[in-house]
Amino acid sequence: MVKICCIGAGYVGGPTMAVIALKCPKIEVVVVDISVPRINAWNSDQLPIYEPGLEDVVKQCRGKNLFFSTDVEKHVSEADIVFVSVNTPTKTRGLGAGKAADLTYWESAARMIADVSKSDKIVVEKSTVPVKTAEAIEKILTHNSKGINFQILSNPEFLAEGTAIKDLFKPDRVLIGGRETPEGFKAVKALKDVYAHWVPEENILTTNLWSAELSKLAANAFLAQRISSVNAMSALCEATGADVSQVSYAVGTDSRIGPKFLNASVGFGGSCFQKDILNLVYICECNGLPEVAEYWKQVIKINDYQKNRFVNRVVASMFNTVANKKVAILGFAFKKDTGDTRETPAIDVCKGLLGDKAQLSIYDPQVTEDQIQRDLTMNKFDWDHPLHLQPMSPSTVKQVSVVWDAYKATKDAHAVCILTEWDEFKTLDFQRIYDNMQKPAFIFDGRNVINVDKLREIGFIVYSIGKPLDAWLKDMPAVA
Ligand code: NAD
Ligand code: UDX
Repeated sequence: MVKICCIGAGYVGGPTMAVIALKCPKIEVVVVDISVPRINAWNSDQLPIYEPGLEDVVKQCRGKNLFFSTDVEKHVSEADIVFVSVNTPTKTRGLGAGKAADLTYWESAARMIADVSKSDKIVVEKSTVPVKTAEAIEKILTHNSKGINFQILSNPEFLAEGTAIKDLFKPDRVLIGGRETPEGFKAVKALKDVYAHWVPEENILTTNLWSAELSKLAANAFLAQRISSVNAMSALCEATGADVSQVSYAVGTDSRIGPKFLNASVGFGGSCFQKDILNLVYICECNGLPEVAEYWKQVIKINDYQKNRFVNRVVASMFNTVANKKVAILGFAFKKDTGDTRETPAIDVCKGLLGDKAQLSIYDPQVTEDQIQRDLTMNKFDWDHPLHLQPMSPSTVKQVSVVWDAYKATKDAHAVCILTEWDEFKTLDFQRIYDNMQKPAFIFDGRNVINVDKLREIGFIVYSIGKPLDAWLKDMPAVA
């Protein structure tokens, strides 16, 4: 019987291992973490992350062949395959700060594996890491290995939050990179056999180590680039009277381009895109490729521009000031169906509005007040360090209140900003919201979820990303 141990019980480690346990009942899977509260939550009825379908999977296998533990060393030492799914945040200080990946957590996991191992192991990079990380990890493991054979594989994860279980059940592909040696091929085969329990063989791709590592960064860069491309077009749509949804549709029906991932938005968020592109930029710079680095940097620059543009639009439309005006924020998570707020565009938009002295009333169905306050007071990039390393009682922003109802958030507000595309926002009673707001009542839709015409009929002044502008907005100063 194979025993798998996964170091890191986060958004990737938890769901990925739960699905492996479900699909491979004969494999024992233990997910370990240094965070006691996180492991306690995995062992409780209140899982530490919100992900549709996850609870059901965990309940089916927890206590049978799926376990969550803080006894990291014991389970690593007993495992045949060790996945490492710890966070790899952007460095906040020192060489490469603000760009390079911080491999502190990865390195400490690798050193621990080397220390506690008594038998041969396959060590799998599940975290997203800079290309060539496997070489460094190999050095750490073999340097301390006491004659133990370690095979390093790269098996990057492509799940998206909010659809993680669906993505894991039916992945477009599973990618496994390994050394091109007899031992390397054997290790690749062993991991392939795990996925083959439910993933068709033709969807399991094998490559060399460096291709697998780089493919993950490349895939995220390509995806983010599509969003920045359509967001750049959204600005031009607003300036010309074109409608970005119509443009996206027309462009996406070209089978070479395809229709997915072309929704204009207030900007992309999430723990991966920005971090991984910055990391890619840093790697290009280190490899003497400044032009390539500059090319990818633009994806981030347009994303920052889009968030700024949204804030400027709100302020400019409301007579160039939001000071002391109540602005309702609907949605704080970085996308729907998750409670995750890492790099959510809502942080930058809220900070921008707070900078102009707005009073914010925030509602998100899955994000707690503590988390929102923490996000609005934390320094850039600090968020991606484990929860237990973050300040427990952050200072609070007094201009912010967090409520548990969209109607409460919007009552007496001057404006509403929709920052996450939660389905429930599509069916709100906007007539009721309008009746309870200050007039003129503004609505700024950063996710294109509302019916613009219907809301204009009610009486709202409506702004929706990349859509033809209201006469009111056209008369206001140009926004850059
Ligand atoms: P996360 O912060 O949710 O989880 C990481 C966990 O690792 C934390 O619980 C932390 O306590 C634990 N940890 C850190 N150091 C440890 C150590 N030495 N020993 C034991 N536990 C340790 O992060 P995540 O979102 O799951 O991401 C993990 C990796 O997967 C990152 O490299 C990320 O880029 C990548 N990734 C994330 C996603 C996503 O959607 N979140 C998708 C694909 C890939
Ligand atoms: C991403 C990748 O999709 C996934 O493959 C990788 O493993 C991790 O990073 P994730 O960040 O969880 O996944 O969500 P994703 O669906 O990619 O959305 C990222 C951001 O882009 C969100 O803020 C989302 O709202 C935004 N987005 C997405 C758009 O603005 N427009 C789109 O068309 C699609």
